[in-house]
Amino acid sequence: MQLKSINSLEKKIFLIAVFASVIQLCFIAFAAFYYGLTVPGCVEGMKPFTKGEIIRKDDKHYEVHVVAKMWAFEPAVIELPSGSTVDFFLSSIDVNHGFQIVGTNVNLMAVPGSVNYARYTFSKPGRYLILCQEYCGLAHQGMFGAINVSDDIKEAKEVLLANYLDAQKVNSSPAVSKAQTPEEMHIAKGKQIFQVKACSACHTVDGSRLIGPSLKGIMGRNTVFTDGTSLKADENYIKESIREPQKKIVKGFESAQMIQVTLTDEEMDALITYLKSI
Ligand code: CUA
Repeated sequence: MQLKSINSLEKKIFLIAVFASVIQLCFIAFAAFYYGLTVPGCVEGMKPFTKGEIIRKDDKHYEVHVVAKMWAFEPAVIELPSGSTVDFFLSSIDVNHGFQIVGTNVNLMAVPGSVNYARYTFSKPGRYLILCQEYCGLAHQGMFGAINVSDDIKEAKEVLLANYLDAQKVNSSPAVSKAQTPEEMHIAKGKQIFQVKACSACHTVDGSRLIGPSLKGIMGRNTVFTDGTSLKADENYIKESIREPQKKIVKGFESAQMIQVTLTDEEMDALITYLKSI
């Protein structure tokens, strides 16, 4: 088609569109060559890991191995000195997850069996939210983490999510810090873990049935298993069920596959204290 036969207004719009595309290409070229930004890709030749860790290269340079799993990141909360450059290596141990650091250009997919990579320099102090932006099951919306960047921090370290949330609560609402006995605080912490670790996605605390049995009054409850055996639920049984969910299956819940949840001893204690209270 000859350009002459085109309506003059259309011709103008056509030229504007071409011009806009060229400008965009220039921006992309500028980002690629000046800032060195590239499309994130898989790291070849790196074995997928199953443990999250922070590896110190020097005071301002860290390598962080992030493991995404239903429904948490490991490490979940990282404290960093301002100006730190972090090489994030990301893997998943179950399904596809996302890893987005809000307000930055770090936006990766966590794919089981492979490792993805992004580098970011945290020059501004502040709190950076990490979100899973890939639908990954029941408690997807509760899968998050945070990076706390501050001038006061000397060296990067991991913070337990429950402790981080405690600190946030105290900072944001002074009303919460009203007198609580150590027992009450322990129960509150256990309740938080129950939600943060997504136990509440499958277990209720009001007696109603969800994917798994309700945990209301679980302590001392007579529990019958699929193999015909039974026991009175106690601390040891609860711990075992969390660490090895498939070992004893409660009768009537044969089709429910509980996933293994990793808890520290401290988190486990708080959770059990909470379960005793309901
Ligand atoms: Cu993990 Cu959504």
